[in-house]
Amino acid sequence: MGSPAKAFALLVFFLLDLHRSAADVGIASSYRPPYLPTACYGGDTSQFPADNLFAAAGDGIWDNGAACGRWYRVRCLSSAVVRACAAGRPAVMVKIVDRAVRIGPLRGGATMVLSVAAFGAITNSSAGLIPQINVDFLQIS
Ligand SMILES: *[C@@H]1O[C@H](CO)[C@@H](O)[C@H](O)[C@H]1NC(C)=O
Repeated sequence: MGSPAKAFALLVFFLLDLHRSAADVGIASSYRPPYLPTACYGGDTSQFPADNLFAAAGDGIWDNGAACGRWYRVRCLSSAVVRACAAGRPAVMVKIVDRAVRIGPLRGGATMVLSVAAFGAITNSSAGLIPQINVDFLQIS
């Protein structure tokens, strides 16, 4: 490999690595309907993305409600449940529409609580009941 190509490759690796280290590690669980009303937008049905990929923010990212409307990329890393992550450890983009403690007193301890659609997008549906997963997450907007 020539020197410019090598330098470019190193740059790409460096940027990929920076990108990876920008993500934080946390815990995600899931919650079921009814999803309304939410702590962010009340009973407004237009708050949910069309694909139902949304989440409730745990105490660590709730940010006094500033988390409402933020988008996160969430990737399944591992779980106490064997093979809980979907093949290839995919990521999903979710919109924050609610506050996790509203769902249950212990939910605020999770980094975020995902809708059934969002949790299902990154977990293995054949793995049985998955109470929680380890994730990496990155605020996109
Ligand atoms: C999903 O879970 C089933 C049951 O444990 C397992 O056989 C399968 O290999 C898992 N798939 C992945 C991608 O881990």
